[in-house]
Amino acid sequence: MCHEDIYKAFQESPHWLVQTDKKYNHVKDACESCHGPGSKHVESMSAADIRQPAKLPAAQTDHICLACHLNQPTRAGRLTSSHVKNQVSCTACHSIHKQPGKLPEPGGAPSFARGPNGLVPRNAVETNRLCASCHPNIWASFQRPYHHRLPEGAMSCVDCHNPHGSFLPHLIQTTEANEPGCFRCHGDLRGPFPYQHPPVQLEGCMACHMPHGSENPRMLTRHVVYLVCLECHANIAAPVPAGAPSGPGTIGTVPPAFHDLRSPRFQNCNICHQKIHGSYVNRDFLR
Ligand code: HEC
Ligand code: HEC
Ligand code: HEC
Ligand code: HEC
Ligand code: HEC
Ligand code: HEC
Ligand code: HEC
Ligand code: HEC
Ligand code: HEC
Repeated sequence: MCHEDIYKAFQESPHWLVQTDKKYNHVKDACESCHGPGSKHVESMSAADIRQPAKLPAAQTDHICLACHLNQPTRAGRLTSSHVKNQVSCTACHSIHKQPGKLPEPGGAPSFARGPNGLVPRNAVETNRLCASCHPNIWASFQRPYHHRLPEGAMSCVDCHNPHGSFLPHLIQTTEANEPGCFRCHGDLRGPFPYQHPPVQLEGCMACHMPHGSENPRMLTRHVVYLVCLECHANIAAPVPAGAPSGPGTIGTVPPAFHDLRSPRFQNCNICHQKIHGSYVNRDFLR
């Protein structure tokens, strides 16, 4: 009676199911599933007498939502994310009642007490806006000349990150056997290759690429390819783990002597070492 507008809008919400499905134990009183018992509030008409989830400490808000969303087959039930650990609650990204609204432009002041995109962002542009509102520095990286096409609206942060948590560091999205989500799109690089280039497996793509964007072609970490390679394939002593038998070696093998690095011909390493991510036939990744 008092919140007619909210009640009307609520009928369009997926949460209306709580009002109608016995499974959730809140038939006809769905509001109380999040706001708690309402009778005192109805009597006093005071906002102090009712729970407003978004105004609680983050952990308590999450607790309310996870009463239903814990351990769902979806990705929402995990409490391992650095969002959880940093007091970014469910309602910072999900608004229960608000219709999708406009967010501050990337770089605008973030606010923790809003769920700006309505219940859930529905497309890449909305998702990117949501994430960029708190991560403007990351958004800035995507403005570099070589980037995944987020600014163009063709991809979003959740293609690579799961905001709810992941088994990999940095909330990296997983695919199939908990491999990094890169392989969902770059499946040709998955292997397994009979001749693997160790850093691809051991250090991951970030040993050589900057997936948020880079000044360098192919999103490489260095301006020219050979500088990427020489970080490991040079006479640089590798740190020896305590207790390891031998003295300092190098990280990768040193290129053989016929590699004349003064000659531009040899500076573009991957003209010859084409299958740099791993090869099916050649141990030097030449084909
Ligand atoms: C799934 C949980 C959930 C359900 C169900 C729910 N609410 Fe809410 N409600 C919230 C959250 C979270 C907020 C904070 C703002 C937001 O996220 O939209 C809120 C905010 C409100 C507010 C505004 C408070 C303010 O400070 O501005 C009112 C009023 C309200 N809800 C009434 C209702 C009514 C009436 C119903 C039932 C028709 C209902 N709510 C059902 C979670 C819920
Ligand atoms: C009483 C149980 C219950 C509570 C508490 C609850 N939800 Fe839900 N939620 C549901 C149901 C049921 C659905 C609809 C699922 C479906 O359609 O299969 C849903 C759907 C959603 C969706 C997905 C919408 C979509 O279209 O995919 C989001 C996001 C969501 N809830 C967020 C929240 C947040 C945030 C809170 C805490 C403020 C919350 N829920 C609290 C039961 C609940
Ligand atoms: C940092 C932002 C953020 C936080 C915090 C967050 N979510 Fe989400 N959530 C999203 C985004 C973005 C999507 C849409 C995912 C997509 O497009 O694949 C989503 C999707 C969902 C869905 C839809 C079903 C699904 O898994 O795709 C549910 C349910 C949900 N979230 C519940 C929750 C609950 C419960 C919490 C708190 C424990 C929470 N979320 C915290 C950003 C967030
Ligand atoms: C309400 C603000 C807010 C929003 C919205 C938000 N984040 Fe965050 N995010 C944070 C905070 C705070 C941290 C923890 C501090 C940090 O690492 O910067 C964080 C951390 C992260 C991390 C770092 C994890 C790590 O372990 O290093 C990733 C990845 C991330 N967020 C992705 C996203 C994505 C993707 C979205 C959009 C779906 C998003 N965030 C939306 C506030 C937010
Ligand atoms: C192409 C995949 C990809 C996309 C798209 C992507 N990220 Fe990342 N992001 C990564 C990877 C991989 C890392 C881990 C980097 C590392 O290990 O050094 C990372 C790290 C992060 C971190 C933590 C480390 C840091 O650099 O501060 C944050 C925060 C983050 N991403 C936020 C975002 C946001 C916000 C978006 C969307 C605007 C986004 N990412 C889009 C792949 C991606
Ligand atoms: C959702 C799909 C998707 C995911 C996930 C993805 N990428 Fe990409 N990636 C693309 C597309 C599409 C392009 C081509 C972009 C273009 O041409 O502008 C691309 C281009 C690249 C390039 C540059 C290639 C070139 O030709 O310039 C690199 C390097 C790259 N991705 C690395 C990664 C890494 C590392 C990850 C994981 C952290 C990742 N990608 C995750 C879709 C994806
Ligand atoms: C040892 C360094 C290194 C690592 C590790 C690495 N790459 Fe690359 N990658 C390169 C180089 C060098 C190129 C440039 C090739 C060129 O210029 O033609 C490249 C090119 C690419 C391209 C564009 C051309 C192509 O082959 O499709 C994609 C996409 C790509 N890498 C994705 C990835 C992904 C995904 C990972 C992680 C699984 C990864 N890379 C790990 C060095 C590396
Ligand atoms: C992060 C370190 C790292 C980077 C960067 C790197 N490599 Fe490697 N590479 C290695 C390691 C480690 C091996 C394995 C060495 C061994 O087995 O002794 C290897 C093996 C190789 C081999 C096979 C020959 C052999 O000794 O097994 C070639 C060829 C090669 N790398 C070329 C390149 C090229 C070209 C680049 C630049 C695009 C590059 N690497 C970048 C670490 C790196
Ligand atoms: C003109 C073609 C060509 C270019 C350019 C080239 N290489 Fe090679 N590289 C080869 C060939 C051929 C071999 C195999 C030699 C052999 O099997 O004896 C090789 C072997 C190697 C090896 C393996 C040595 C070993 O012990 O197995 C490394 C490491 C290597 N190159 C690194 C590089 C790096 C780093 C660059 C760029 C600075 C580069 N190469 C540029 C043709 C090239």
